[in-house]
Amino acid sequence: MTTLITHIGELTTHDHDRPLTDAAVVLDGPRVAWVGPAVDAPAADQAVDAGGRAVVPGFVDSHSHLVFAGDRAAEFAARMAGESYAAGGIRTTVAATRAASDEHLTSHVARLVAEMHRQGTTTVEIKSGYGLTVHDEARSLAVARQFSDETTFLGAHVVPATDTGEPGDAAAYVELVTGPMLEACAPHARWIDAFCEDGAFDAGQARAVLEAGAAAGLRGRLHANQLTYGEGVRLAAELGLAAVDHCTFLTDADVAALADSGTVATLLPGVEFSTRQPYPSARRLLDAGVTVALASDCNPGSCFTSSVPLCIALAVREMGMTPAEAVWAASAGGARALDRDDLGVIAPGKRADLVLLDAPSAVHLAYRPGVPLVAGVWKDGRPL
Ligand code: NIG
Ligand code: FE
Repeated sequence: MTTLITHIGELTTHDHDRPLTDAAVVLDGPRVAWVGPAVDAPAADQAVDAGGRAVVPGFVDSHSHLVFAGDRAAEFAARMAGESYAAGGIRTTVAATRAASDEHLTSHVARLVAEMHRQGTTTVEIKSGYGLTVHDEARSLAVARQFSDETTFLGAHVVPATDTGEPGDAAAYVELVTGPMLEACAPHARWIDAFCEDGAFDAGQARAVLEAGAAAGLRGRLHANQLTYGEGVRLAAELGLAAVDHCTFLTDADVAALADSGTVATLLPGVEFSTRQPYPSARRLLDAGVTVALASDCNPGSCFTSSVPLCIALAVREMGMTPAEAVWAASAGGARALDRDDLGVIAPGKRADLVLLDAPSAVHLAYRPGVPLVAGVWKDGRPL
């Protein structure tokens, strides 16, 4: 089955120097078959008239924590009243997630993924990290796998408390994560991640987790430099990880290490929005030659938005990106962060993942913040 999408007023392909005007795309099954001027478009089995509106690649949200139960709205409200964000809030969600059935977790992820689709996300990476036992991490990943191939084992999210509520033993927990937990989780995951931060894991522990993951065939990504300066970003660069995420507090040495390594810096502006932290400068990273991705970090604690368009608007307004750079970072950038060359670009042979905007140009994603501009979404060539 082939589909012609024609009369596209502005087509952002990320395969050309600038967007095409008066363009068309042909989808053939799950792939893009043809891209060019609407007047030259070949015939197809069915046609969709974009009516002069804009089309962009589907968003590739390379960082989310969707497998959880419970609600931390009260924690958010307390933050807005002056409390600060701390890693320890994660344990609240861990208790609720352990108590939830597989069916509850699955339907909750389904609801969030549907919410993402409606906002133009066609690929989402999903992490575990709210189970923190062998059983609960493995079942979290089994739930995530029903919705994405891009699943990430984040057993090293925080050290769980003991059954009596005492602080857990970090060294013993890292042994568990790198041993039996990794063995149970690796079959359900493509990636391994750790939260390298004060109150979570130090750089030595994160390195041990990432190295054990690599030995089990999982590629690495890392949460780092979210709450303060630290060694995490340089560790990610040294290990040649696909991406290091947050990057809120960066020294010049961190920026240079990212530029030299090719590790993608994934910025999560919804987190700064929802924690009242300072926004990092995407401009500084881009000017240094670092590849930048934008993602939602959708999670119940630091940022409960599923909206990549919101992240694009914040990155433009608060992080020094141009609208075109932000749209690239949210699609092609996310694809780089996931080591996927078939996503984030509209070109022959690439996945047929596209978003039709109820707007004449992609600039409107930042120019009209908070407005539901997504008028149509195709994933693998099928309308969602
Ligand atoms: O990416 N940084 C660590 N993990 C999440 C937050 C998790 C939570 O607060 O529940 C994040 O921000
Ligand atoms: Fe995260």
